Amino acid sequence: MIEIKNLYKSYPRSGGGEIAVLKDINLAVADRSITAIVGASGAGKSTLSKLISLLEQPTSGSILVNGKDLSRLRGESLRHERRAIGTIFQSSALLSRKTAAENIALPLEYLGVVKSDIKKRVAELLEAVGLTSRRDYYPSQLSGGQKQRVGIARALALHPQVLLSDEATSGLDPETTETILSLLTRLRDEFDLSIVLITHEMDAVRHAANYIAAIKDGEIVEQGKVSDLLSNPHSSVGRQLISLNVADAFNDRHLVAELIYGAGVPSDWVQIASEKLGAAVHILGAKIEQIGNDGIYGRTLVGLEFAKPLGVEIESVKEQLRAIGFHAEFRNELERIAA
Ligand SMILES: Nc1ncnc2c1ncn2[C@@H]1O[C@H](COP(=O)(O)OP(=O)(O)O)[C@@H](O)[C@H]1O
Ligand SMILES: [Mg+2]
Repeated sequence: MIEIKNLYKSYPRSGGGEIAVLKDINLAVADRSITAIVGASGAGKSTLSKLISLLEQPTSGSILVNGKDLSRLRGESLRHERRAIGTIFQSSALLSRKTAAENIALPLEYLGVVKSDIKKRVAELLEAVGLTSRRDYYPSQLSGGQKQRVGIARALALHPQVLLSDEATSGLDPETTETILSLLTRLRDEFDLSIVLITHEMDAVRHAANYIAAIKDGEIVEQGKVSDLLSNPHSSVGRQLISLNVADAFNDRHLVAELIYGAGVPSDWVQIASEKLGAAVHILGAKIEQIGNDGIYGRTLVGLEFAKPLGVEIESVKEQLRAIGFHAEFRNELERIAA
C-alpha cells in the first residue's frame, strides 16, 4: 500500500523563484491493484514517478509504503528501502552489450548476490515474463515488447512490493501494449504487487487499471475506480475513456452504441447479443424503467468489443440488434454525421 499525502514538489526557476510542479497530491495505491496516473505531457507525471521511486525528494508532504515514510531517507537506508519499488524504464534503458539474462542480473550483481543465486533468480524471472528462450539474445535482437519484458523482469529482480512504470508502453503498437498490460496484471497476482502505471495514453489503461488518477498542471483533478468514472456522466476521465473507443471505432474492434429498448427486448439480452454478435457487451450506462403495465422502456449505452477488427459489417450488427428488439444508434456514426 502506498499513501501519498499532501505532496508538493517545486524546482528553482531559471530566472529566480520557484516553479511548483506538483501541488497537494493525495493518492492511495491499494495492495494488489493497478493504479493509472494519466495526464497530458507536462502535467507532472514523471516528476511524481521520480518521487515515488525515491530518485528525488519532495519539497513537502510524504510517501508512505506500508506505513513507512520513505520520502526523506538518505544513504544506506534509502538504498535498502528503494528495493521495495521496482521501476520499469523505457526499453532503451537496457544495456546493449549485455544479453537479456545479463540485463536482468544487474540489480542482483550490484547487491553482491552470490553467482549461483543470481543464476537461479534470473531463470525464474525469465520464466515469469515468458522469455526463457531468449535468455542469450542482445537487446538489438529483441522486439520492442520483448525488450520491455526484460525491463519488467529486471524491475522485479529484488522482490519489490511496488512496480512503477513511467510510459513503459508508449511507442509500442496497441497489440504489444495489450500483451504487456496483461503480463503486468498476471505478475500483480503472482507476486502480490501494487502497480503504478504512468501514461498519457488513455487507451492503455482502460482494461488494465482498477483505479485512475488524472493530473493536470500538477494537481489531481479527478480520481476514482475505473468503473465509477465510467458510469459517472460528469466524469471527464470517464468520457475520455469512452470517447477514445468512439474515435477508434471504425478501424478498431470497438463500437459504442446507444440501444433504445423496444417492447420485446428479452431480459437476457446481454447474453443473446454477445452470442449473436460474437462480441463482449459492456454496459456503460443505462436508464430503464417499467412504464405502467406496458413493459420496460429506456436506453442503454453499450460498448461492443469484437474479437476481430470490424470492417463494413456495421449494418449487419445493427440488423442483429434490431432482431433482438433494439433500435440501435452508433455513437461514432452520430459523431460523423455531426462533424
Ligand atoms: N528538474 C526540473 N527543473 C525544472 N522544471 C522541471 C524539472 N523537471 C520537470 N520540470 C517541469 O515540470 C513540469 C512537469 O514535467 P513532467 O513531470 O516531466 O511532466 P510529464 O511527465 O507529465 O510530461 C514541466 O513543465 C517540466 O518542465
Ligand atoms: Mg513524462
